[in-house]
Amino acid sequence: MLNDAVCLADLEPLARRVMTPMAFEYVSGGAGDERTLAWNTEAFTRIRLRPRVLADVSTLDTSVRVLGQTLSLPLLLAPAAYHRLFHPEGELATARGAAAANVPYVVSTCTTTPLEEIAAAAPHGVRWLQIYITPDRNRTRDLVQAAEATGIRALCLTVDTPVAGTRNREQRTGFALPAACVTPYMRHVAGADGPGLPFVAITWRDVEWLRAQTRLPVLLKGVLTGEDAARGVDSGAAGIVVSNHGARNLDTVPASIDALPEVIEAVAGRVPVLLDGGVRRGTDIVKALALGATATMIGRPYLYGLALGGAEGVEHVVRILRTELESAFALLGRASVGSVDRAVLW
Ligand SMILES: Cc1cc2nc3c(=O)[nH]c(=O)nc-3n(C[C@H](O)[C@H](O)[C@H](O)COP(=O)(O)O)c2cc1C
Repeated sequence: MLNDAVCLADLEPLARRVMTPMAFEYVSGGAGDERTLAWNTEAFTRIRLRPRVLADVSTLDTSVRVLGQTLSLPLLLAPAAYHRLFHPEGELATARGAAAANVPYVVSTCTTTPLEEIAAAAPHGVRWLQIYITPDRNRTRDLVQAAEATGIRALCLTVDTPVAGTRNREQRTGFALPAACVTPYMRHVAGADGPGLPFVAITWRDVEWLRAQTRLPVLLKGVLTGEDAARGVDSGAAGIVVSNHGARNLDTVPASIDALPEVIEAVAGRVPVLLDGGVRRGTDIVKALALGATATMIGRPYLYGLALGGAEGVEHVVRILRTELESAFALLGRASVGSVDRAVLW
């Protein structure tokens, strides 16, 4: 079934057939009336490309540098909770698939597998860790220490989730974690990333606190405005992730690609800016780069790949995007990421 998916849009209907209704609704759903969910993908389709011909594209280089690390593609796997809900091997399969596809995997604080086991499953894979600061700061400190000990290269502090969004699809399917899905770092937090329940309201002071706990770079994930991006950089953030949490939190905020330009302007090149939300085509990655992003992340598509084929499914999804991105580069007359700027937009 996995090989029936020739593009990322093919994955959702195929995955629906193999996932439990509860897991499928959890992954596919967005907040409120899902306007932002639709906009996240639609907004990319409104941006047009401006190809140049007869450029030498005989060798293509899609690699980028982010925080001193070389990525083979401007792509990472976004943090997502509960991978064992989607595949019995859960995060172990994701880690293997990401390593095989040579893209970094951002592990969620709501992982259903401990960091040590994930590291052992794919020792050569590059991993970052997404942080939800928990009410008991000692637990977050322990998690950061585990991250450093297991070779995590960067931390993404999620700043857009003081409470979970209004997610009607989860309410309708009665979302509840099965007993077999244990979250080692969130056990004590009721309703972590689940429907409607109170979460952890952090403030700018917590950004400083987290930075003081670690020598790893700390990126802020979930920024949509120039004001917050600028304040984040002033607070020592090593990077900004423009994201509306895959449209799962506050409905009717703009598509993340529409929020990107004002963040790029405010950050003014001081730190890398990443983007996620609705990235489904190689051309979407090009558009994000053209508007100033250093790299992009995908969420739902690789989770569908995971559900359909474990590690192989995750690898398959990245392979599709890699091929599409190389094709887009060649057809635009651009041989490397460095030559992608606003001039590739019509
Ligand atoms: C099922 C699911 C679970 C998620 N869990 C988390 C999480 O634990 N922490 C987090 O920061 N973001 C989480 N996200 C948001 C993703 O990191 C990312 O921002 C989003 O999925 C990108 O949009 P896309 O799905 O359109 O690619 C989750 C997204 C999904 C779909």
